[in-house]
Amino acid sequence: MKVVNVVGARPNFMKVAPLHRELENHPNFEPLVVHTGQHYDEQMSEVFVDELGLPEPDRYLKVGSDTHARQTAAIMVAFEQTLHELAPDLVVVVGDVNSTVACALVAQKIGVSVAHVEAGLRSFDRTMPEEINRVLTDQLAEYLFVSEPSGLENLAREGVPSDQIHFVGNVMIDSLVDSIEMARQKSGLETFGVTEGEYVLVTLHRPSNVDNSERLATLVDILCTAAERWPVIFPAHPRTRERLEDLGFDEDFEHVEHLHLSDPLSYLDFLQLMDGAGTVLTDSGGIQEETTILGIPCLTLRDSTERPVTVEMGTNELVPLDPETVLRKLEARMEEQQAGTDDPPPFWDGRAAERIVQVLEKWG
Ligand code: UD1
Repeated sequence: MKVVNVVGARPNFMKVAPLHRELENHPNFEPLVVHTGQHYDEQMSEVFVDELGLPEPDRYLKVGSDTHARQTAAIMVAFEQTLHELAPDLVVVVGDVNSTVACALVAQKIGVSVAHVEAGLRSFDRTMPEEINRVLTDQLAEYLFVSEPSGLENLAREGVPSDQIHFVGNVMIDSLVDSIEMARQKSGLETFGVTEGEYVLVTLHRPSNVDNSERLATLVDILCTAAERWPVIFPAHPRTRERLEDLGFDEDFEHVEHLHLSDPLSYLDFLQLMDGAGTVLTDSGGIQEETTILGIPCLTLRDSTERPVTVEMGTNELVPLDPETVLRKLEARMEEQQAGTDDPPPFWDGRAAERIVQVLEKWG
């Protein structure tokens, strides 16, 4: 069975890598990788391919950045041609980025089965582009691989037939389990001159936070105040860096001694810094999950999460963008010795890819 695994944006690589490896270990499967090129900078793409042991993609579609419509359309046009050439039996898409929905739509329309890994997550906020991508991809896919219990409830409520839904756990945690020891050998803490448990790690890239200059100004304010108390490490996504530079905030940061604005980090470098952080401040989806497994407090600067199990576990907390509240919560979390419970969410155990391949083998 020929399987095309789609990668496009940064959070896709750590989800596809364990699955690709597992498929390679089973003689019934011929896994291929198609990279749409949604993310293209070395720090957003190549470095992840290398560290996670993914092979060079079999096809690289080079679509790059554009508006949502143009980017999604460009992926669809290029992917359709690619599918005609590769003629796979199955297309696997992961997560909720534009590449996910674009490739699922193309595959289904030319009669190739689609599997969606990380199905069923819902923030119930349709102003998030990712929410639209999730809902549509789940409607298109024949195989829905679910990572947390809320996904099962959401898909059942939306009327997805139960024989299409498979609760397999979290493939991103497979990558974390595989890589954590290697990450702990890195020297990120020395590079930034910080001590374990005593710094704040920050990531921000949601359009709702960084594309709005008022919200971005509030965030900058929060980070500058926090840095008076604890070292703050802020590896900025290219979108965020651009907005900070447009508004001149990057220069403000230069005057704050303990605020380290850096380029995006590699998977292992970031994993190490997350593992050693006192608290993580973020608007990312995946980081809410990774901190849950690492037992690191995570404050999520959003009004909703599509990953409610991370809140139930006690590591993650949704925080409104109000400086006083964020700083108060940060203070409380920095004091904490142990975040969350010792029991991970079900099937977040490093074996999700194995379960997915077991399901696919029955089909093949
Ligand atoms: C995308 C995903 C988001 C995911 C994020 C992870 C969608 C709708 N959004 O958001 O869900 O959390 O990736 O990073 O798919 N850029 C570069 N170099 C790159 C890629 C992007 O400089 O390699 C810059 C470009 O200016 C681009 C901007 O970042 O316009 C945004 O990139 P885009 O892929 O459109 O969305 P992300 O914000 O990265």
